[in-house]
Amino acid sequence: MTDKKASLQIPGQESVEFPIYSGTIGPDVIDVRSLTSKGVFTFDPGFVSTAACESKITYIDGNNGILLHRGYPIDQLAEQSDYLETCYLLLYGELPNKEEKESFVETIRYHTMVHDQINNLFNGFRRDAHPMAIMCGVVGALSAFYHDSLDINDEKHREIAAFRLIAKIPTLAAMSYKYSVGQPFMYPDNNLDYAANFLHMMFGTPCEDSNVNPILAKAMDRIFLLHADHEQNASTSTVRLTGSTGANPFACIAAGIAALWGPSHGGANEAVLDMLEEIGDESRIDEFVARAKDKNDPFRLMGFGHRVYKNFDPRAKVMKQTADEVLAELGLEDDPLLKIAKRLEQIALEDEYFVEKKLYPNVDFYSGIILKAIGIPTSMFTVIFAVGRTVGWIAHWHEMISGDFRIGRPRQLYTGSPQRDFTDISDR
Ligand code: CMC
Repeated sequence: MTDKKASLQIPGQESVEFPIYSGTIGPDVIDVRSLTSKGVFTFDPGFVSTAACESKITYIDGNNGILLHRGYPIDQLAEQSDYLETCYLLLYGELPNKEEKESFVETIRYHTMVHDQINNLFNGFRRDAHPMAIMCGVVGALSAFYHDSLDINDEKHREIAAFRLIAKIPTLAAMSYKYSVGQPFMYPDNNLDYAANFLHMMFGTPCEDSNVNPILAKAMDRIFLLHADHEQNASTSTVRLTGSTGANPFACIAAGIAALWGPSHGGANEAVLDMLEEIGDESRIDEFVARAKDKNDPFRLMGFGHRVYKNFDPRAKVMKQTADEVLAELGLEDDPLLKIAKRLEQIALEDEYFVEKKLYPNVDFYSGIILKAIGIPTSMFTVIFAVGRTVGWIAHWHEMISGDFRIGRPRQLYTGSPQRDFTDISDR
């Protein structure tokens, strides 16, 4: 409970008081739930000032560039932990001890294969289908495989759904790529770790050993880790909203994948590379920067800016370092596209427009560069974001279902026609 109160004066009514709650850290929130009884709503399109739920998973301080998972700073996790350990942390709230970690990794390994009938689903897609379109379909289809055996009110069932999703998403992601290039699907090789296994399923063939480069596997693991969760972003909020109806979790994650696909969210990493290709030459950078600054031109510099980070994106800092490591390992420092990226980054960091609006390179700017260097096709970039983010989605879904929740049901400011009588078609 709280002693702190906020008051609001609504014209023609007595002043109304609302309780103010404090989190562990971060801004206080004003509980406006009783406002509806006064006949008014709050208006916050884009949820700029609205806390839609209480959560213990992730904290972001956008002004100071801080991102904490269960209290641990993202840079410490990126440097000292690995993706699956971070998954455990997000799901269970604490870092695992040695036995817990081994058991978790083993469980995820156990679930990496997908039902053989899933293979048939792929044949329904055109070969040139975008892999994110395929992912929306096949992840949603998992609900058909596990619907009857899943009681979302049973904690054990929710845990198994989480294991299945984390384990199978890389397999499905690699399958969506293999399908698009007409190569046979690769079964997971459970002797490999999570990220190496994904690269094996992406680039291996039944005729040739995949020989996964450990430096690239480590970079891949870091990309997954840096995308693992990000508080109540658009796709996570979508998963929560879908889940609040009691829907099947595999269908909820498919909804999250759909929300992630857009270029303002996860689709930005793909859009960054498309933009670099469109720029094509360092001599054209100024022209594109000018377009990004022109209010009458809808063009934006993809990979720059963030709704919450107004100082720097702490994930981008680690990602930039990984990008340098990967480019050095592959001897790609002189790649023309990557040179454009570096020059663009430098110009935007110095340009008054970007500095004033606090538009810094975000995580997707550098992840696109690394993925391109690893040889991942551009259309797979957002799929890789989805693989990493699956744990965040499922952790938030689980947190919501475990606690008190109501169906999510926003209201609106109606500006349409007032009530009127239907007119017969002959009189219109
Ligand atoms: N290039 C040029 N101008 C920009 C950009 C950009 N990338 N981003 C924002 N602005 C300008 C925008 O025009 C506006 O100017 P004004 O105040 O004069 O109207 C101002 O900055 C504020 O922008 P906004 O659209 O109100 O900010 P937002 O918080 O609603 O949007 C964003 C955040 C990430 C959608 C936006 O910065 C953007 O479109 N960036 C490019 C896409 C991108 O990189 N997205 C990945 C985000 S990180 C990964 C993830 O979390 O999914």
